Amino acid sequence: RKNVVVAIDGYSSCGKSTLAKALAKKLGFIYIDSGAMYRAVTLYFIRNQVDMTDQSAIADALQHIELNFHSRDYQSHITLNGEEVSDEIRLMPVSENVSEVSAIKLVRVEMVKQQQRMGKSKNIVMDGRDIGTAVFEDAQVKFFMTADPKIRAERRFKELERKGNNQVTLEEVFENLAHRDYADTTRKESPLIRAEDAIILDNTDITEQEQLDFALDKVTPFL
Ligand code: C5P
Repeated sequence: RKNVVVAIDGYSSCGKSTLAKALAKKLGFIYIDSGAMYRAVTLYFIRNQVDMTDQSAIADALQHIELNFHSRDYQSHITLNGEEVSDEIRLMPVSENVSEVSAIKLVRVEMVKQQQRMGKSKNIVMDGRDIGTAVFEDAQVKFFMTADPKIRAERRFKELERKGNNQVTLEEVFENLAHRDYADTTRKESPLIRAEDAIILDNTDITEQEQLDFALDKVTPFL
């Protein structure tokens, strides 16, 4: 491929989006948060009480969902049928259901199709769970991110707190991450797994700047 694709996969709350945004900003690439797409679909399913065991209801719902990204300052702002839902998709009701929704084959097929379209001709950084293994197997650079689960829960908890969400405890955040990691790695459709050619990045003990420098070093040869 002529355009450069950087694929970032890994466990929940490992800082994938922090790295992806920083890389995109530094390189002038487009950042795409694939998790936000699964979250927005989940929000639609919750709001419309879509029966997740009913294949035709799911297919019908997917036809009524239009997702768009509006990149302001490399933060990803996503709209669901024209409505800005970037904040709502981070809250617990969506976090608690997203792994179930993202395990549905019909949902994955549709999201992957849209993601591949977005990466067709532009230089992009995309983060998620199956970017290096399914969406862009031919990505020039793949990272697989991980970090100590306790640290991840603390980071996510602080982020929720900063956004003024006080309804959730650290334990609940920890449980949700553990649940999503388990569901994401054991599901049948495109489970979370390291692509053979992905570079492992454990950021338990390194700073954001160190992580960015490490990643830039790997991407630079392809520019
Ligand atoms: O990246 P984030 O944690 O926001 O993703 C939310 C959920 O969406 C994940 O726990 C996973 O179930 C699903 N997901 C996925 N494939 C992707 C990105 C996210 O299955 N490429």
